[in-house]
Amino acid sequence: MKGALLLVSSFIFLTHRVNCCPTKCQCHQFSKTVDCRNRGLVDVPPHLPAETQILLLSNNHIQKINHSVFIDTTILKILDLSNNSISGLLPNTFKGLRHLQILNLTKNFIEYVDNKTFSSLPHLKELDLSSNNIVRLPGTLGNNTGNITLLSLKHNKLQKVDRLLLESLPNLKVVLFKGNSWLCNCHVFGLKLWLETFLYRGGISDGVICLTPENWKGKDLLKIPYEMYGICPPTTSQMQKDNILHSISEHKSSLKHAHHSEHGDSSRSHCEPKPKPRPVSLRHAIATVVITGVVCGIVCLMMLAAAVYGCAYAAITAKYHREHLPPGKEKGNFEGKETFESSLA
Ligand SMILES: *[C@@H]1O[C@H](CO)[C@@H](O)[C@H](O)[C@H]1NC(C)=O
Ligand SMILES: *[C@@H]1O[C@H](CO)[C@@H](O)[C@H](O)[C@H]1NC(C)=O
Ligand SMILES: *[C@@H]1O[C@H](CO)[C@@H](O)[C@H](O)[C@H]1NC(C)=O
Ligand SMILES: *[C@@H]1O[C@H](CO)[C@@H](O)[C@H](O)[C@H]1NC(C)=O
Ligand SMILES: *[C@@H]1O[C@H](CO)[C@@H](O)[C@H](O)[C@H]1NC(C)=O
Ligand SMILES: *[C@@H]1O[C@H](CO)[C@@H](O)[C@H](O)[C@H]1NC(C)=O
Repeated sequence: MKGALLLVSSFIFLTHRVNCCPTKCQCHQFSKTVDCRNRGLVDVPPHLPAETQILLLSNNHIQKINHSVFIDTTILKILDLSNNSISGLLPNTFKGLRHLQILNLTKNFIEYVDNKTFSSLPHLKELDLSSNNIVRLPGTLGNNTGNITLLSLKHNKLQKVDRLLLESLPNLKVVLFKGNSWLCNCHVFGLKLWLETFLYRGGISDGVICLTPENWKGKDLLKIPYEMYGICPPTTSQMQKDNILHSISEHKSSLKHAHHSEHGDSSRSHCEPKPKPRPVSLRHAIATVVITGVVCGIVCLMMLAAAVYGCAYAAITAKYHREHLPPGKEKGNFEGKETFESSLA
């Protein structure tokens, strides 16, 4: 009786482990690909074959991803969820995908990304988050992002991106920013600095095109000189005004987002690299230029004087030598000249 029960339960266990191809998908044994594209799916099919390496789920209507759905497909390398209806990703959505290299989430409705969503993907190389509704990104994509080489954030609603997030991706080679709502005030300063260094080191980017403020609309962030950024904030009264404006906009946006996280952001929101008020730095710059000019002028004059003195001295000594040289040496010279002249004649 007991043995039979064990046999039955192990049979059940076995059939559970050896998963078949989901009915709506096509499975390719050789390429270890499960192809579920264009099937009108609203969920990720459960019990995927454990040996799956490529899972194609694009062009469906998937809205939510069950947190344990990828628990068996531990060797998955490519996961394509593009063109679905995913609006949010739970922190543990991709838990267990330790070998995942490419994650494509383009063309969904994702608004917010949690900082733990991708932290269980140590081999992630390419992350495509383009064409979503992402308004803001966390300070980091997790502590396991060291292998990410491509990050696409194209066509979202980002106004800014934390420099720390980009700095936490040391192997990034390609980053795509186009089609966002970049706000080019002092807050974008950190991004500009990062991007300049990134491009200098050979990174590839499609550039940050400002949307606001109005005077920088359509301008490339890299082509706006540092001096041109709004000062944030120059005086205490201005700071108070900014704070009021900021808290108003924050109250508006907190209708959409969790309030505590927004608040944590606001406490350190005003410009990380603290720029000096412009008049002072401008005065400093002018003073530096004037002093440099004066010093250069003095040095030049001294060099000129030295040159004139040197030439005069050389001429005088030469003349002196010619007049006081012993006649023998001088004669040899004249003889040479004479023979030269006579040979000409
Ligand atoms: C996106 O998926 C829908 C079906 O869900 C399909 O009709 C549409 O053509 C797809 N779009 C693209 C760009 O592939
Ligand atoms: C998530 O998994 C549980 C257990 O398999 C199941 O009851 C639930 O229906 C699943 N949800 C989805 C969206 O698949
Ligand atoms: C993601 O999928 C789209 C098509 O749905 C494709 O154009 C894009 O190149 C893919 N992104 C990556 C990083 O492979
Ligand atoms: C993730 O964000 C939360 C706040 O939203 C923060 O408390 C936590 O430290 C962050 N974790 C990491 C790993 O950055
Ligand atoms: C990453 O953070 C998680 C908790 O968020 C932790 O369990 C894990 O050990 C960390 N990994 C590394 C490499 O620091
Ligand atoms: C990156 O890849 C290497 C080798 O493929 C691996 O050893 C490492 O754990 C991966 N993760 C991180 C975060 O570097």
